[in-house]
Amino acid sequence: MKDKIKALAKKRNAVILAHNYQPPEIQDIADLCGDSLELSIKASKTTADIIVFCGVHFMAETAFILSPDKTVLLPAPDAGCPMADMVDPVALRKKKKALGGIPVVTYVNSSAAVKAESDICCTSANVIKVVDSIHAPEILMTPDRNLALYAASRTSKIIHLWEGFCPFHNTLTAGDVIKAKTAHPNALFMAHPECPPEVLALADEIQSTSGMIRFAGESAQTEFILGTENGLLYPISKAHPKKKFHPASEKMVCPDMKKITLENLFDCLETLSGRITVAEDIRKKALGAVQRMVEL
Ligand code: 13P
Ligand code: SF4
Repeated sequence: MKDKIKALAKKRNAVILAHNYQPPEIQDIADLCGDSLELSIKASKTTADIIVFCGVHFMAETAFILSPDKTVLLPAPDAGCPMADMVDPVALRKKKKALGGIPVVTYVNSSAAVKAESDICCTSANVIKVVDSIHAPEILMTPDRNLALYAASRTSKIIHLWEGFCPFHNTLTAGDVIKAKTAHPNALFMAHPECPPEVLALADEIQSTSGMIRFAGESAQTEFILGTENGLLYPISKAHPKKKFHPASEKMVCPDMKKITLENLFDCLETLSGRITVAEDIRKKALGAVQRMVEL
């Protein structure tokens, strides 16, 4: 199946992008694995005719926003992000108005329609840089409350929160982390900024998924506890085979990230199904927010 996918991708001039949480066999076959920022940058620069996005819906949508002349395919079209569904454009417009039209920073984990209502996007890798780039004392951040609280703790801006969260990162507790640290006393604890503040307070390092992979390579430490979705265990162990990685909790599994299989990847390449598009008026408005982030 892997050989068949590779051959078909070559024939169709398709690039296969995979997020760091994807199943191992999908990461192994991808042309590029990465965090949301790396994948957005790659999607904006590729010369392929087809982008096959092994991730969730908002990621494929972001690729289409940046590259509308390309065919963007999501092998499992029902792979969504529950956090992205916690904000909609009507509610966002209402809150923006109530706050006097302050700038809106939107996490890429959001729909194109929400991005279209936003001034700039951010990811977990660049949130501080994006917030600092805004020339206003107050901003509204959507949809992730924990990411916004993290940014508020690292910048001088007044940040208004949206009550969204990742159902998996948000379930990690300080108790879980203490338990993992007790079991692995020599390990350093890395956390994703989607985790709650009490978890981030216990972190030795706060990073995006690719940031964690890089940090583990640069650190003299040989053992780490990962406070993120457990799919990261595969690429981080592959990148650093001599180092040890432990999940902070077994419950950190995002089922939507596991919906892509070799079979549906092959099918979508063969039939060009699972096509993701965005209406042109929304795409144009969303492009401003995504492009400002990519340029920064
Ligand atoms: P990053 O890989 O950008 O850190 O994002 C994590 C995530 O939750 C993607 O859905
Ligand atoms: Fe969304 Fe959380 Fe899954 Fe990422 S891990 S796709 S934020 S639900």
